[in-house]
Amino acid sequence: MYKIAVIPGDGIGPEVIREGVKVLHAVEDSTPGLSFEFVEFPYGAEHYLKTGELVSEEGLKQLEKMDAIYLGALGDPRVPTGVLEQGILLRLRFYFEQYVNLRPVKLYPGVPCPLIGKGPGHIDFYVVRENTEDFYVAIGGRASGKSRAELEVLRSIYEAKFGLDIDVDRDEIAYQIGVISRKGAERVIRYAFELARAKGKRRVTSVDKANVLTHVYSLWREVFERVAKEYPDIETEFAFVDAVAMWFVKNPEWYQVVVTPNMFGDILTDLGAMLQGGLGLAPGGNINPEGVSMFEPIHGSAPRHAGKNVANPLATILAGQMMLEHLGEAEAARKVERAVIEVLKEGKVRTYDLGGRSSTSDVGDAVAEKIREM
Ligand code: IPM
Ligand code: MN
Repeated sequence: MYKIAVIPGDGIGPEVIREGVKVLHAVEDSTPGLSFEFVEFPYGAEHYLKTGELVSEEGLKQLEKMDAIYLGALGDPRVPTGVLEQGILLRLRFYFEQYVNLRPVKLYPGVPCPLIGKGPGHIDFYVVRENTEDFYVAIGGRASGKSRAELEVLRSIYEAKFGLDIDVDRDEIAYQIGVISRKGAERVIRYAFELARAKGKRRVTSVDKANVLTHVYSLWREVFERVAKEYPDIETEFAFVDAVAMWFVKNPEWYQVVVTPNMFGDILTDLGAMLQGGLGLAPGGNINPEGVSMFEPIHGSAPRHAGKNVANPLATILAGQMMLEHLGEAEAARKVERAVIEVLKEGKVRTYDLGGRSSTSDVGDAVAEKIREM
C-alpha cells in the first residue's frame, strides 16, 4: 500500500493528472498486492489567490509522510510569473532535497520525430539534471529603490567581489549568483554513474561551460573526474553545453547518460522533449533517493489549453511509470510503458499534438484499457 500525494495544480495540470491517476488505478486492479491511497493537496493558483498561501508548513509535514508526490503543473496568468513556480515547485524540490531531476529522452515507435532520418533506435538516453543548486539558489539583487547606505554597501561588494567599478546612482545593475558545492555535485554525478550501470549504458557525458563560468564549473569538472575513477567500466567525456545542444540534434544516438548542472539541464531537456515527440511525451522525476520524490510531466500548465480536454496526458502517465519504478514496482512500471507503446503504435487514439483528434481522457482510457487487458 503506497500513499501518494497528488497535486493537480494549475492549467492543464488537473486534466493530465486525472488520466495519470486513472492509469495507476488500472495498474492497481491488475496487480495483486499493489494498492494506492491518493491524498490530494490543493496547492496552486486557486488556493494561493483564495488564501495567500503557497505551501504551508503543515502541508510540508503531511507531504513528508507520503511515499511519493504526483504533480500536474504549476503557473497561472493571474499570478505574477515565478510566484507559483518558485513558491511551490522549487520549494518542494528544495525542501525535500530532490537533488536529481531525472528526465528520460526516449522516442517511442509511431511518434513523429522532427529529425530527418532518426527513429526510436536513435533516441534513447537519460538526462540527469542537478536539481538544487547552480543558478536556482536565488541569491542575487538589484541596485534600485535602495537607501544611500545600502547603495554604498552594494557598490563596495561589486567592487571587492566582482571587480566591477559601478556608479550606483547611474548604472542600474542586477546580479544573480550560481552555486556549485562539492557535495551537491558529487551526489548527482554519482547517481548518473549508478544509473548508467543499472540501465546497461556505457557512457556518461558531463555538461558544463567551464571555459567561461570557470569558478563553478571547474569544481563540477573536478568532482566528475574524481567520481568517474570509481567507474572504470563506464566511458566518460566532457562537453560544453552549446556543443551538446548541437549534438543532440545532429547525433542523438551518441548519448546514453548526460549529467548536467541545473540550468543547462532545464534548457537541454526542453530540446530533448522535442526529440522524443514533444512536451506532451516528456516525463521527469525529482528524486531524493533517501527521501520523498516527486514525479511530473516536464511541460508547464499551458493555460491556453486548460479546461478543453485536449492536452496530451502521456507525459504525466509516463511520470507515473517513473514513480512506480522508483517505488520498486518494476513489473507495474513495465506494464504502463508497454501500454503506452501499444497505444502509440496503434495510432488510433492520439491528441492534437501528435496529429490526432482524441481528447485527454480518450488517451487515459486507452492506456488504462490496455493495462487491464494484460
Ligand atoms: C522545469 C520548469 C521549472 C524549472 C520552472 C517552472 C521553475 O521549467 O521543470 O523544467 O525551471 O525547473
Ligand atoms: Mn524547464
